Amino acid sequence: MQAMCSVFIAVSLDGFIARPDGRIDWLNAANAAVPPGEDCGYADFIAEVDAIVMGRHTFEQVLTFDPWPFGDMPVTVLTTKPFRLGRSFPPTVEASSETPQALTARLSAKGLNRLYVDGGETIRRFIAVGLIDSMTITVVPVLLGEGRRMFGALERDLVLDHVTTKSFPCGFVQSVYRFRRDALLQTPTGANPPIDN
Ligand SMILES: NC(=O)c1ccc[n+]([C@@H]2O[C@H](COP(=O)([O-])OP(=O)(O)OC[C@H]3O[C@@H](n4cnc5c(N)ncnc54)[C@H](OP(=O)(O)O)[C@@H]3O)[C@@H](O)[C@H]2O)c1
Repeated sequence: MQAMCSVFIAVSLDGFIARPDGRIDWLNAANAAVPPGEDCGYADFIAEVDAIVMGRHTFEQVLTFDPWPFGDMPVTVLTTKPFRLGRSFPPTVEASSETPQALTARLSAKGLNRLYVDGGETIRRFIAVGLIDSMTITVVPVLLGEGRRMFGALERDLVLDHVTTKSFPCGFVQSVYRFRRDALLQTPTGANPPIDN
């Protein structure tokens, strides 16, 4: 069985997931204005997840959260660096420098088939090899002007299906998109590639 990879992320109206230095103070401020009891679908999303895959930058941000937010959920941190972050973290955390393909195959063999992929660069790497199935993107009505982007350069257009959009009284607008299974088979012009005989 091939793992299903999902994204659940908040972006500024101008497309950033963090400030240039990685801070998400703007997101914390926006979340503080959300009425108590409203989690914008996060609990339902995480209930359908077997494991989390995140980039090292995101993990460093998560380490500042107290308490640890992921309970017993297995977490794989992608990094090329020695895994010494100067703080203890739960035994459910592992480090890996595998490719998205190798990692998802290994986790799937362990029965971890529904993966939450987090971190801008990490998400882009998964998208580039066609491994993201769906994205829940919550647009926060703030302009940051600069920062770390959610999306980046692509070798070709990727066409997605829009599933749903919901707006919240706090001003958040959340949309769900699904990647088409054949997305990476499309040529830069959008036409299907020629078939080799
Ligand atoms: N707005 C939101 O909802 C939201 C959600 C998540 C994160 N964030 C913020 O976004 C920022 C993080 O995003 P980001 O784009 O900067 O980075 P990121 O994806 O979290 O981390 C990038 C790093 O992950 C490692 N990496 C990724 N794929 C790898 C692979 N296949 N093999 C080995 N290493 C791999 C590399 O680490 P090394 O450099 O160690 O090799 C790379 O530098 C943080 O500031 C975080 O707080 C915001």
